[in-house]
Amino acid sequence: MSDSVGSHNIESVLHEERRFPPPSDFAAQAHISSEEQYQQMWQQAKDDPAGFWGEIARSQLEWMEPFETTCEGEMPDTKWFVGGKINATVNCIDRHLKTWRKNKAAIIWEGEPGDERVLTYQDLHREVCKFANVLKKLGVETGDRVTIYMPMVPELAIAMLACARIGATHSIVFGGFSADAVADRNNDAQSKLVITADGGWRRGKEVPLKAAVDASLEKSKSIEKVVVVRRTGGDVTMVPDRDYWWHDLMEDVSAECDPVALDAEHPLYILYTSGSTGKPKGVLHTTGGYMLGAMMTSKWVFDLKDEDTYWCTADIGWVTGHSYIIYGPLANGATTVMYEGAPNWPDEGRFWQIVEKYKVNIFYTAPTAIRAFIKWGDDWPNQYDLSSLRLLGSVGEPINPEAWMWYHRTIGKERCPIVDTWWQTETGAIMISPLPGVTEAKPGSCTRPLPGVVPDIVSEEGESLGDNQGGLLVMKQPWPSMLRTLYGDHQRFLDTYFSKIDGCYFAGDGARRDEDGYYWVMGRVDDVLNVSGHRLSTMEVESALVSHEAVAEAAVVGFPHDLKGEGICCFVIPKGTDVSEETKKELIAHVRQQIGAIATPDQIRFTNSLPKTRSGKIMRRLLRDIAAGRESTQDTTTLEDFSVLAKLREEAE
Ligand code: WTA
Repeated sequence: MSDSVGSHNIESVLHEERRFPPPSDFAAQAHISSEEQYQQMWQQAKDDPAGFWGEIARSQLEWMEPFETTCEGEMPDTKWFVGGKINATVNCIDRHLKTWRKNKAAIIWEGEPGDERVLTYQDLHREVCKFANVLKKLGVETGDRVTIYMPMVPELAIAMLACARIGATHSIVFGGFSADAVADRNNDAQSKLVITADGGWRRGKEVPLKAAVDASLEKSKSIEKVVVVRRTGGDVTMVPDRDYWWHDLMEDVSAECDPVALDAEHPLYILYTSGSTGKPKGVLHTTGGYMLGAMMTSKWVFDLKDEDTYWCTADIGWVTGHSYIIYGPLANGATTVMYEGAPNWPDEGRFWQIVEKYKVNIFYTAPTAIRAFIKWGDDWPNQYDLSSLRLLGSVGEPINPEAWMWYHRTIGKERCPIVDTWWQTETGAIMISPLPGVTEAKPGSCTRPLPGVVPDIVSEEGESLGDNQGGLLVMKQPWPSMLRTLYGDHQRFLDTYFSKIDGCYFAGDGARRDEDGYYWVMGRVDDVLNVSGHRLSTMEVESALVSHEAVAEAAVVGFPHDLKGEGICCFVIPKGTDVSEETKKELIAHVRQQIGAIATPDQIRFTNSLPKTRSGKIMRRLLRDIAAGRESTQDTTTLEDFSVLAKLREEAE
């Protein structure tokens, strides 16, 4: 735990007076359409979670064998739908084939160069079954781990669902991560197989994924085989008996593959995310509870209807893509749009061009993207017909009221409700969010908890705080889609989430609840940065820096950044006297190579010393003030050497 509670994170944000009730025509057609309905659901889920979730799980999911007990055990070791057998792909695909949805578009895909592919539910079924057979042929068995490191192409969706079909646990690594990051994740999960592509397209350039996999394999010995999708046609090295082309493997396999009946608690996937130490955490989600959470929140929050074209702009390498491009929408039988590339390629109008082209009705993106759109100017969206949109969503970081208002006016034309959805990799599904047909929005607030979510704001000592008092955001009741463990490290799971506040899940965020019961999330209270909506630990960046020969010591902090939300500022004590611009550039390149482009430092500041407490702990809050260029309001009585601070300030100028 860092020293930030009561300092930069939990500060009162600007008072926001504007209110935006749902348009009455939206409310009239919504899945949840009245305050009474919401209140009744929320209360029932709180008072009788087993009754509430049991009924929904039975009626909304397809079970291969019914469960006996809805929920067993106290948080954190709660098991859901005990005794039930289920397969995620039956719920995402097979059950729709029995209905008119068989030939409905499941995935509408657009590549960055402008190529298109539409997969109906029937197409998806065939491809998933075939690739599941390929996995079996390559020796993958139920319970094995498979790493997926791919661009946003349909084969990524097919690969993850094929794993789910046979009960192999997928671990998707975002394509922007480095070879080292892939190796670490392969090793931690002890993956047997990697699925990748020659490359992917990003701003017209090829991202060489296979080359990164090759480099990662020198350090990850558990990997036996690699499957490569041909996407860009770029040069790759194929190692005989280790590397196989996807299209070759798919040539002669059957399109029939029975789904494996898995325990409700069977691990569906591992997804690595940053915590407050240098080593990423393997968040583990299981099948029944996760599927229910992803499905129901998609329905409630995005008000998904069969006629909708729904587009979540996230990358599937992040949890948002898992839950809200694939599992949630497909479980609802929806049409989900998947776009491969950058929002500003070939120009800054690309997203709006896609909205117009496919007549997107529901659009879900991140505040960092919204801030970029604002910067690029209204002319871009104004050139396109956005009248198909009926609902907008935001995720990943607090949305500043100005960005909210711009989204509301320029994209939503003051017609579309906005759902500001708070959740985490760990929660699996949206936790706190407006219901678009019910909740009056206040720009900047993620508003109220969904049914089944019982949050509170508590002090460091765990006592419940009153209205508008900043504190720690916790969950007092378990929910079906919560993480079950950190892969291979259950103790770290207990320590990270359940040891801080007795009997509660500790989210790691600071927040306050206002007089209307609305939540205002202020950001992380641990050493986790939120850079463009992506989580990054300060220690991850620090260890990357100190692994460079020129660095003696490093301290990394976030600072407010117009586009990224948080930028990365690195205070570096060099080993020698070289403090040249070249060395700065080299250090930036080094961090990118160690972690990936998302960790690119915005600032490198060389210094001779770092402010420390008498016990030798780096005082990050002071560094944060310096990085932000603000006068420190912090208590400096424990600072070991007062002159350090003055020196750092001088150096910053
Ligand atoms: C932050 C992304 C404010 C928060 C789904 C959380 C948000 C972390 C919001 C999780 C929001 C996410 N308002 N903050 N609507 N959504 N966050 O695991 O700090 O990548 O703890 O999951 O993002 O990031 P993660």
